Amino acid sequence: MTRLSVKTAGGVYDVISERGGLQNISKIWELDRKVMIVTDDGVPSQYAEMAASRCKSSFTLTLPQGEATKSVKSLLLLWERMAEEKMTRTDAVMAVGGGVVGDLAGFAAATYMRGIDFYNVPTTVLSQVDSSVGGKTAVDFAGYKNIVGAFWQPRGVMLDSSLLETLPERQISNGLSEAVKMAATLDGELFRFIEENGARENLEEVIVRAVGIKKRVVEADEREAGLRKVLNFGHTVAHALESRLAFDTMYHGECVAVGMMCMCSGDTRRRLGAVLDRLSLPTVLPCGAGELTEAVFHDKKASGGDITVVTCPSVGSYEMKNIPIGDFEKFLS
Ligand SMILES: NC(=O)c1ccc[n+]([C@@H]2O[C@H](COP(=O)([O-])OP(=O)(O)OC[C@H]3O[C@@H](n4cnc5c(N)ncnc54)[C@H](O)[C@@H]3O)[C@@H](O)[C@H]2O)c1
Repeated sequence: MTRLSVKTAGGVYDVISERGGLQNISKIWELDRKVMIVTDDGVPSQYAEMAASRCKSSFTLTLPQGEATKSVKSLLLLWERMAEEKMTRTDAVMAVGGGVVGDLAGFAAATYMRGIDFYNVPTTVLSQVDSSVGGKTAVDFAGYKNIVGAFWQPRGVMLDSSLLETLPERQISNGLSEAVKMAATLDGELFRFIEENGARENLEEVIVRAVGIKKRVVEADEREAGLRKVLNFGHTVAHALESRLAFDTMYHGECVAVGMMCMCSGDTRRRLGAVLDRLSLPTVLPCGAGELTEAVFHDKKASGGDITVVTCPSVGSYEMKNIPIGDFEKFLS
């Protein structure tokens, strides 16, 4: 069992990594109250059932799987159920699922009665590595991802690696892309470990080490005023791909993989490409640089005349660069 204590102004909480840990949540979390469990129909139902069996009084909402569930419509449904069940400020919400369920349930917890406790049991590699830590909650709206949301730190996070056994391989690589991102920019030692030993082959260790990186980043910069922006490495291109070009065909981590390749060159690009190849992640843009540039303009980060991108000049380092919109296509090529 590994325990990482995350300390931010928005709250202090433990992220526990423990195989089979879902069975033990009642020993570490305050579940002696009403708990709304949120899951989706792609998550094996026994996980939410296990979570419910550990609560004194709970009800479960099972939403359709997929990004479309991260919507205002779903949020209304959650709020309605919370009010119908007469949940109070002392009750809690628990997410049992991937990043979609976590972001949505977290935002419902952040807003109901101005904020109630939120527990997270992430069941995908992506949500374990990335979205479970840092307190970003959101729904998509008006064609934009994560445009309405709040910072709301969870009260506890359980990373139970046994829950990942039902995940398809493509989803495992999808999540590991975010771990590679953190290693490439912030932890050259972890990157070398991945190069030498493989990320897939050392799933639990890589997840815990990546969460350790994310913990350090969000502790230093909870609200993304500075350092936290480094986590956007690969994301300028990824968000553009997701929102305009490949929303339904490419997973988030796959878009990030391609996006990272666009933001480095030379030996760094060669090393990154080899790590991504080994995970069967894409490394080549699925469209032309012109089409991508247009998509980037539509992304919410393209404010004013410049786009801020994160580059990786050498493994274990990063740079933030402001690029005038007019030069972005040239920069890509
Ligand atoms: N809040 C943050 O900081 C943050 C960071 C990164 C990504 N995100 C968000 O996370 C979302 C993506 O998360 P995701 O990749 O986990 O996608 P997801 O939640 O859609 O899960 C992917 C698929 O896997 C299924 N699934 C989940 N757990 C499973 C399991 N154990 N076994 C089998 N199937 C399972 C789900 O039903 C779904 O179909 C995006 O909306 C993204 O914006 C948020």
